[in-house]
Amino acid sequence: MALKITVIGTGYLGATHAAAMAELGFEVLGLDVVPEKVAALAAGRVPMYEPGLEELLGRHVAGIGGSSGRLRFTTSWDELEHFGGDVHFVCVNTPQKHGEYACDMAYVDAAFASLAPRVKGGALVVGKSTVPVGSAGRLAGLLAEHAPEGVDLAWNPEFLREGFAVRDTLHPDRIVVGVDGDRAEKLLREVYAAPIAEGSPFVVTDFPTAELVKTSANSFLATKISFINAMAEVCEAAGGDVVKLAEAIGHDERIGRKFLRAGIGFGGGCLPKDIRAFMARAGELGADQALTFLREVDSINMRRRGHMVELAREAVGGSFLGTRVAVLGATFKPDSDDVRDSPALNVAGQIHLQGGQVTVYDPKGMDNARLLFPTLRYADSALEAVRGADVVLHLTEWREFRELDPAALGRVASHRVVLDGRNALDGAEWREAGWTYRAMGRPRA
Ligand code: UGA
Repeated sequence: MALKITVIGTGYLGATHAAAMAELGFEVLGLDVVPEKVAALAAGRVPMYEPGLEELLGRHVAGIGGSSGRLRFTTSWDELEHFGGDVHFVCVNTPQKHGEYACDMAYVDAAFASLAPRVKGGALVVGKSTVPVGSAGRLAGLLAEHAPEGVDLAWNPEFLREGFAVRDTLHPDRIVVGVDGDRAEKLLREVYAAPIAEGSPFVVTDFPTAELVKTSANSFLATKISFINAMAEVCEAAGGDVVKLAEAIGHDERIGRKFLRAGIGFGGGCLPKDIRAFMARAGELGADQALTFLREVDSINMRRRGHMVELAREAVGGSFLGTRVAVLGATFKPDSDDVRDSPALNVAGQIHLQGGQVTVYDPKGMDNARLLFPTLRYADSALEAVRGADVVLHLTEWREFRELDPAALGRVASHRVVLDGRNALDGAEWREAGWTYRAMGRPRA
């Protein structure tokens, strides 16, 4: 009989994981405490923008015509108990604590507290949330105390990228499982049999290593981005071109091209808070010195946002007062509607606070941006955002922005000055249409 699987927490991670588990042939119950989220998912609607996820849900959510019926959602812990899952994935989020670097474990702790007395004997609980190292050991203790006999814990970090969540979940580039016994490993090999058969490496570790793999992977990615952004600063000072530099060093296979895109830096719900939580945890463990470089990674990253504000101020003649600024992009990266710690919105907000009239347009992030920054103006299209603008800021590299017609925009802008915060527009094309094009870490033309 196919395994029965539950997924607790249905954000980007959980909703995708639940749908992917149904796709792999398991019977799945997703649980979330937010009724609106559950209602949307149960109707086959995705409460956020994630390419391909709605199609996947449509193929499996019970009650949708032609679906496999293998996937259901609930807010009820009693229903979860009744369902009698063999494997329970905990996918709730671990945001940064207010006013602190450490991450907030409240949702993970609450999920484990509700789950422990409701799992059946012999079931496996699998943590997927990004947690401070040492959490799995502590939570195993909690299960030993409050769950029935024979319930095991495993830690199975998730490496999916927003915008590619479905692909990354169904075809992961590696599967990492932290276990303290053969039984958990065996069950997880059964759960992931399809990707393993496809060639995904299956790495078995202890609990702390599995937890550390996740935070160190994100720290490495953040470091790589801040490295190239530091090079952008030097290029700006020395008259070099960071895009060419990245291309040239990237040809060295040991370095690689990926994650060397200089610009206004990283944001989102993961990289910024993960490096901070990692520093906080290392401090608690007495290993803070090992991670002091992450402080520098963080500050290089935050400096990029300030630098973009400075470039914009310079472009409008030294003060934002009475000027109009068009901002193209609100999400922290393209193909997502996520605006958490978005560099684009941060820059827009700073300029607004300094007296500029900021008009934002984003293909998918408008609703979330409005909620976070209701005082900014929002336009329905790039053209409307640019109308009357003294400067145009390109801050999230959506394909739609690369396909804009600079000549048409030039006809509605007040001044033809564009600042490319993502080094993603075709500078030559914009210049040809009469724009002053400036990018980060690149020489002025
Ligand atoms: C990141 C990791 O890439 C995933 O592997 C991980 O699973 C996830 O966090 C998580 O912990 O859940 P994600 O937050 O979706 O994924 O976004 P990324 O694609 O890593 O991009 C993060 C930020 O870095 C974005 O703001 C992006 O614009 C920026 N970035 C990325 C650059 O500025 N330059 C680059 O070269 C690449």
